[in-house]
This record gives sequence, structure tokens and C-alpha cells, in this order.
Amino acid sequence: MKVSILTLEQILNQFKKSRQKSPQTYLAMYSSWLGGIVTDPELMLIPIDDHLVHRGDGVFEAMKYYERRLYLADEHLNRLLGSAEKISLPVPNTKEEIRTLIVETLKAAKTDNAVIRMFVSRGPGGFGPSPYDSCGSQLYIIVTNPKPFDPKKYETGVRVGISKIAMKDKFFATVKTCNYLPNVMMKKESVDNNWDFSVNISPEGFVGESATENIAMISQSNEFLIPSFKYTLRGTTLLRMMTLAKPHCHSVKERDLTIKDFLNAKEVLMCGTTMGIVAVTEFDGKKISNGKPGAFADQFAKLFKEDLLSYSQL
Ligand SMILES: Cc1ncc(COP(=O)(O)O)c(C=O)c1O
Repeated sequence: MKVSILTLEQILNQFKKSRQKSPQTYLAMYSSWLGGIVTDPELMLIPIDDHLVHRGDGVFEAMKYYERRLYLADEHLNRLLGSAEKISLPVPNTKEEIRTLIVETLKAAKTDNAVIRMFVSRGPGGFGPSPYDSCGSQLYIIVTNPKPFDPKKYETGVRVGISKIAMKDKFFATVKTCNYLPNVMMKKESVDNNWDFSVNISPEGFVGESATENIAMISQSNEFLIPSFKYTLRGTTLLRMMTLAKPHCHSVKERDLTIKDFLNAKEVLMCGTTMGIVAVTEFDGKKISNGKPGAFADQFAKLFKEDLLSYSQL
């Protein structure tokens, strides 16, 4: 096997060829490392010695851009800054600067609908675990076309299985770090089992969340119940739903919930940034109520859509 030492020109040609192997619509990327925005997907790169790459040392967010509306931007930016603070990661920009950088990256992306992902990384500097080897933390913002959640699932509901992957420790479960291997294994598990999602269970037997979504339920007495945030990420979609649901439910409560509580629920819902709200019609192999999406799921999806449209356009 002959392995070449490449020239810059060969590298640039190869970048394009390699990208064609995984065609995706990546529209624009801001990189503090490059000091600007690139729109060629082959140039959307992170240095291999950035601790984000070799140690998962960073935090991230994914935010919805819908018909030129930045949905829950404040909530996502606050969570990004909060996650960074929890792992003592300095953020290279202020919240307002990040907002401006997002808007500039969206302008370069020339799109009305997107998913915006932000990463704050420990930054480049050696391959050891010590964060002190970094030359300074970096910010990367990438704008991609949204990958729509299967529209049929909003009508049929989704199947949720019980994960065998151990729940993360309470500290790591509440920080949105780039160290998502347990979440990746949960997603793989759900695909391999032909479930739409799998939810993890705490050592005490309490339901947590899925790989990148929260779960909630409506009890027989119309209480909106959500698993304790002790074990889960404070999802921006779920928190918003808790506010929107208040006038329509008997009460809204966060508490420890078991598999049995979910099986006895009137309705079960999954929620997250990319798919919004979707009804769970099968949980742990058993039907929820009559196995069809219920009235609350329908009403909450409408409330969520109205809320999305209430945001002003850029
Ligand atoms: C572990 C985990 N739980 C829940 C969520 C849902 O949060 P949000 O509604 O902010 O997307 C996410 C989001 O990616 C997540 O990573």
C-alpha cells in the first residue's frame, strides 16, 4: 500500500471527494479557530488536537430556526453558558456576541429553516487529558438543513423501550457535554430494537430520558408529570411545555416516576428541539391507553406550534 505525503492542492481536492461520500446539507460554519465563517462543507473542520475531539471536552447546544424565527434562543444560550460553567470551561464570547455570530452564520447559510448547533470546546493543545494544555477555548457554530422527524409518527405515535444502558451520574446527566457515548449507545439500542426511542432508568427504578429527548406523562387525573430533573437534562422544549400546559392540566409536577406510573398514564409524550412534541403509544412493549395519540398530545402540539410562530422573524 502506497501512502502519499499530500500537497495543499491535493488536500483541497481530496476534501471535496471525501465529502461526496457523505453528502449532507451543511450550510455555514463559524469557527473562532479560523476567525470567520466558511460555507464549503469540506472546510468545516475542527483541529484533531482540540480536546473536544480526543476527550469529548466541550459543551454543545442544538437550536431550531423555523421560518426565520430563532426558537428559545435565550434558553439555549443560557444552558450553553451554564453547561460550560459547570465544567469550568471559559466561553470565548459573551451571550450577546454568540447571538450576533449565530445571526451572521445564518445570513451566510441563506436559509429560512435550519438546525443551529453550537459547540464550546476546550480548544487545541496536545493530546493529553489535561484541560490546562489547551491554548484557549473555541466556539464553533454550524448551520445545517433540518432533518425532519417522520411526519407519520405524529399521527401514529412512537414506540419507547426501556434502555439497558446505565444512566449517567447526576452531575453529567445535567450538563450538555460533548461526552455523549451513553446517549449514542441508547440511540443505537433503540434503532437495533426497532423502537423509536429508549428511556433510561435510575438505579432506584425511576424513569429518566431518552438519548436526546425528555419524556413526560398525563396522569388519569390530568396532572402533567415529568421525571425529576435530578436525572435528566433540563430540556428547553419540556420546560416550555410545562409553562404552556399549566392552564390545560390539573397541575404540573416534577417528581420521581416509575415504569408502572408511565404504564398507568392517560397519555405519554416525548419532546425535544428537533421533533417538538410527539405522543408515545407504546411503552415497554405495552399500549398506552387505547394505543392511539390522545387529546393532550394533539393540544400540546398545537400550543407548541403557536408558541413557535409567536417569535418574531429575523
Ligand atoms: C440528554 C438530553 N435530554 C433531553 C434533551 C431535550 O432538550 P431540548 O428540548 O432542549 O432539545 C436533549 C437535547 O438534545 C438531550 O441531549
